[in-house]
Parts: sequence; structure tokens; C-alpha cells
Amino acid sequence: MRNARKCLIAFLIICSFTANAQSQTQSDSYRMNDFINNLMKKMTLEEKIGQLNLLTPGGTVTGSVVSKDVDDKIRNGQVGGLFGITGADKIRRAQEIAVKSSRLHIPLIFGLDVIHGHRTIFPIPLGLSASWDTALIRKSARIAANEATADGLSWVYSPMVDIARDPRWGRIAEGSGEDPFLGSQISKVMVEGYQGNDLSKDNTVMACVKHFALYGAAEAGREYNTVDMSRVKMYNEYLAPYKAAVDAGAGSVMTSFNTIDGIPASGNKWLLTDLLRKQWGFKGLVVSDYTSISEMVNHGMGDDKKVAELSLNAGMDMDMVSEDILKYAAQLVKEGKVSAKTIDDACRRILEAKYKLGLFQDPYRYCNEEREKTELMSDANLKAAREIAERCFVLLKNNNGVLPLKKSGTIALIGPLADNKRNMLGTWSVSGDPEKSVTIMQGIKNVAGDNVNILYAKGANISDDTFLIKRVNVFGEEISVDKKSPEEMINEAVETANKADVVVAVLGEAADMTGESSSMTHIGLQPGQKNLLKALVKTGKPVVLVLMNGRPMTLTWEDEHVPAILDTWFGGTEAGNAIADVLFGDYNPSGKITASFPGNVGQIPIYYNHLNTGRPYHPGDSPKFKSDYLDAPNTPLYPFGYGLSYTTFSYGDVSLNSKILKPGGKITASVNVTNTGTRSGKETVQLYTRQMVGSIARPVKELKGFQQIILQPGETKKVSFDISVNDLKFYNSDLKYVYEPGAFKVFIGTNSADVKEADFTLK
Ligand code: NOJ
Repeated sequence: MRNARKCLIAFLIICSFTANAQSQTQSDSYRMNDFINNLMKKMTLEEKIGQLNLLTPGGTVTGSVVSKDVDDKIRNGQVGGLFGITGADKIRRAQEIAVKSSRLHIPLIFGLDVIHGHRTIFPIPLGLSASWDTALIRKSARIAANEATADGLSWVYSPMVDIARDPRWGRIAEGSGEDPFLGSQISKVMVEGYQGNDLSKDNTVMACVKHFALYGAAEAGREYNTVDMSRVKMYNEYLAPYKAAVDAGAGSVMTSFNTIDGIPASGNKWLLTDLLRKQWGFKGLVVSDYTSISEMVNHGMGDDKKVAELSLNAGMDMDMVSEDILKYAAQLVKEGKVSAKTIDDACRRILEAKYKLGLFQDPYRYCNEEREKTELMSDANLKAAREIAERCFVLLKNNNGVLPLKKSGTIALIGPLADNKRNMLGTWSVSGDPEKSVTIMQGIKNVAGDNVNILYAKGANISDDTFLIKRVNVFGEEISVDKKSPEEMINEAVETANKADVVVAVLGEAADMTGESSSMTHIGLQPGQKNLLKALVKTGKPVVLVLMNGRPMTLTWEDEHVPAILDTWFGGTEAGNAIADVLFGDYNPSGKITASFPGNVGQIPIYYNHLNTGRPYHPGDSPKFKSDYLDAPNTPLYPFGYGLSYTTFSYGDVSLNSKILKPGGKITASVNVTNTGTRSGKETVQLYTRQMVGSIARPVKELKGFQQIILQPGETKKVSFDISVNDLKFYNSDLKYVYEPGAFKVFIGTNSADVKEADFTLK
């Protein structure tokens, strides 16, 4: 009786809290609406259109056009926001013009590409995703938001959640790889990390999920290229991470450069209105990508005035840089081609974002010089950057226990990236300072101390291809060409290697060989580096290849001939220390790749969750008339989810608590995982399913869950996953989200190819 009373009281308290919270939110939104209604009553059509204009005054330049006469336009009420400037003083100065000199004193919003950290740089997003650690990724976004807001910003152009299955595309570096399930989990936590639970706090920023949509499926991996995809593929494989960000409350969405069903995203009404706003219920603001509105002229959609009309009527709110909306919107309204309501709606959404960020209350909320001094690149942030980076590296190969290295003896540290500050941060680290990055040379000294003797030789240039070098070095000398000839450099490296116990070869890409406008048709080591590696292997010394790269590379020769390969992506400010921690075993590597590494470029696109064909090839089959290549396997060199540890794990069989799953119920799939090696280690246990028969062809495997466990040597843990009908739903050919009864397989394993399986039936 007493318990029942206690329960009732607790229940009433919870109800009253919930009711209070709801009425609080309601009254907040009434207040916001009142405020914006009053403000908009005072605004002329031109002032409303001014809010739709997003300019970049130079400073941090991230595109081919820099806006002109920015201060005058702010004064005239023709600008809603700026991006590309940082620093409390600069932002305060620009804000002052808006607040003091424009007629209605409406504050500006300030955005920037904060992609994998702001000043303190974390590994590139493809690397972050390889940690499979969503709490860690949320933390990286939280730190980035703290730093960004301490530097004047209120809006970050992240997360980038484009599914990418083509490593030729340089922007594969910026996302979370090929899988919609993992991509969605990461997309959600990044939004949470940036926005926290209250946008008006002075250390939270508005997130901007991009690039909506399907940008990662550009034909032939060529940047800005056409995308053409069935709706079924779109809904089942590409849209989920954008939706996850929207569901997590992302305040804004950025459109992509590509076409969808023949219509560029920035003018695509189905995409921006029917799907995003009507189906998904998105209430925030939509911004175009850099000049993507005026680029619709090149897409063949009409002249500048026409494309402004198309984009406004499609549901665009803010025009990044092209200024077509600023130029033509008033005329379009007068001619009846765009309604006044359309402009009002777009303007309202921008004002709402500013209101939620607290900018009307205090336009200088994010201009705090004191925070700038204490919070940017603080010791705590650098410590986190090191810890986060360690967890992102992927051990691709480790024969004969070459790794970890001993903290004694002589190491030949070879390669153009071994002592190279310029390239540690990777692409899209626009506010990072390469001079503050820790090189691998420095990291090894810090971690191994005086007992290790380090001999260094550059050995090769990152590339010797003058055309490529010119393209990559647009923003500074990432690839420097040595005075010595390639032969002289290799000879010197071989002499150095001969004097050492072990060779650590740090090879790979320059930072801007991936990222925007950095598609490549050759995704292996550049020839000069490959020659160097071959010469090092020939010395007979044990060679450890430490890779720095922004994409899955083709490493077939390396895999056959080099005993140990550690993929470190671009590891950020603290990369050198973190890499050394892993090389010497202070951290046992636990990363797993999130995009398949092809054996060769001809296999691309290659991804684990493909459909079956009518003529699937199984190894050992008679090869004629099967879906395969004459000259290469169908399988990648390293599959999705793959990554080794300094210890080993063995998996028991998959057991199911029931062979029958009923709608509304669940079944549990379990497996025993044992650490069979000699070190403590972290393993990411992965769950996949396959629907054997369906109304449409279904993928051969789909990731549905993962868990990270730490096991001591000899220790066994039982890992269990619940599977319910919701996990088995998909979009059918009518684009209805359904489940279909029938036979299923469940797989649990260490990567997408190495799994144990069991069968069940969905009734
Ligand atoms: C173009 C890029 O595609 C986008 O990702 C970025 O946010 C904008 N430029 C702004 O720099």
C-alpha cells in the first residue's frame, strides 16, 4: 500500500515536471513567435531578402569566390550572416556594423567549417568513424563547439554525413564511410555534441548537416559530378544519416552540388520541401552550398534570375555566396513568380535560428576574449585530442609481432611524412595551426625517451608529379620537392635503414590530396614512395608502414610484402604523440575501417552491403558466366569493419534464445568472445542481418548493431544483441517502411567478412 502511494507521488511529480517543461517550451516558442512577428512587421521586403544572403568576406577562404562590399551590404540590411572569419575581435567588429548601423539592428549569424575540431584538430571524420566510439565522437564535437564559440562562431558546417563508397572521391575523408547504420549513429551524436541541449548557451553552436543529399555518390568519384540513383537505394542506403541528424534536432541543412533525378539539390522541391520538411518534419533553415544556386545556370536550369526563383520555390532559405537571391528575389515577388509568403517563411527561419542562438538577447554572446584566451587549444583539449586519435588508428597488418616496438634500440624513421608538421591535420582543418601539430618524429621522442636512437631520412617526396604537386599546393606547400634526386634520397634511406633494428616508414598522402575538389584516379602510394618502400623492404629489416591518408588506398603490394601496416589517417594536432603511443603499445590499437579498401581501382564502387546478383560468384565455383572479374577477386583487400589488435580474439558460435521472432517481440543473439592473446584489448563486436527473401532484392549483409568490449588475456565475455522487427524494416518499392515475414540470417563477428551465423524466422 505504502509502495503504491510512493509510486503515485513519484508519478505525479514526473507528470508535473513534464507538464512544466512542456509549458516552458510552449511559452518560449510563443515568446519567440511574438518577437519575430513584431520584427517582421517592421521589415521591408528588401530587408527580409537581405536576411537570406550569406557572404564570406575573405579571411578563411573555402571556395573560389570572395564576397565584395560586405560592410556596406551589412549596413544596408542586405546580409543575414557571414562565414570565413574567426576571432572575438573580428566578429565583434562585423556584428557591430549590423547591430549599430543597419536600420533594424538585426544581428548576423557567424558560420564556419568546423569539421573535425576547430583549433584543436581531431582525426579526419573517416578516422573518427574508425573508432566506432560514439561517446568519443560526441566528445570531439562538444570540444569543437566549445572552441568555436570561444572564437566568435555560432554555426558550424558539420556533420558531413554523405555515405561514400568510392575512394576516388576526395571527400570520403570528411564522412563516416559506407554504412548507413553506423553513419546515422555518428550523425546523431555529432549534432548532440555541437548543439547540446540548449542552443542559447554560450558554448553551443547550431549544427548544419550536409550535403543534402547523396553527394557521396558522384559518378566515377569525380568531384561535383552527377548523381543518379533509384528511390529505393536512396531511402534504404543513402538518406538515413541525414534523417538521423534531423531527428536529433540539427538546426540547419546544407544542400549539395549534385543533381537528384536530374534536378540540382539547391533547386529540388521534392528534396527540400516534400522530403525534408513534409516527410521528415524539419523545421530549421536550409542553406545552399557555396554558389550552388548560381551553378544551376551551368546545370542548364536557366539564367541567374530563373535559378533564384527555382531555389526559393524549392524551399531554400539562405544563399551562400551566389547573391542571386539578393539580386532577383524582390523582382520575382513583384512578378508573382515567388510569393511574399515564401520570402517570409525563409526569413522567419533565419530569424528563428538567431533567436534560438540567443543573438537577439546578446549579439556579442560568442565574442568573449577571455574564453578565447583560456579555451582554445587548452591542455585538456590537447589531452583529449591525443586520446581520441589513438582510438581511431587501424592496424591493417602485423606479422610476427613486429608491433609494438620496443622502447630501446635503433629506429630508422623514414619518409616524407615522418617529420612533417604541415600535413598532420588533414583536409578541412581551416582553423588548425599546422605549426602546433606534433610530428611522428616528435611523438616517438616524447613516448620512447632517450633509450631509443632515432635515425631519420626523408627517402622520397610525397609526389614527384609536377602537375599533381601544383594542384595540391594551392593553399601552401604541402608537397615539397627535395633538392636531392629520388635515387639519392632512396640510397640515403637504405643506408639509414641498414644501421637500424627496425624501419618505420611514414608514407601516404598530402593533406589536400583528399577533401573538396581532390578526386584521384590513382589511390595507391605515389610511385616515388612505392619505390622507396620496395627498397626498404629489400634491406631485410623489419618494416612498419605507418600510413597517413584521407581515403581507403590500394595496398595490395604493401599487404603482400610489408610485415606491419598501421593506418593513422590524418590524426590531427596530437597525431604524433598518439601514433607513438600505439607504435610502442601504450595503447593497443582498436580502430576498424568504415569504408572497404579495394584491391584495385577497377573494383570501385566496392562495399560490403551490396545486393546479390542472379549469378553470384563463390570462390571455387566454375568461373564462367558468373558475376566476377577475370583478373581480380570480387572481395576488397580489407573489408568494412576490419582492424587488428596486438592481441587476438576468438568468437564462439552464435546462439539464439529463439528461432522465431514475432512482431512486437524480440530475440537475442549472443556470442562468446575470448581474448586469446597476451595483452588486454578492445574489440568492436559487430552484428549484421540478411533478409533471405523479400519483395525487393535485399543486401547480403546489413550492420544492425555493434558493441565495444575490453578483454584481459584469457578472458571471455558473452556479448548479446536484441533483435526486434524494427531492426529488420526497410523501404519497399512503394517507399513504405515495412518488415516482411520470412527467413533471416544473423551474423556476428569481428568484421563484415569474418562472422559466425545463425538462422531465424520472422513470423
Ligand atoms: C563548400 C563545401 O562543399 C561545404 O562543405 C562547405 O561547408 C562550404 N563550401 C563552406 O565552406
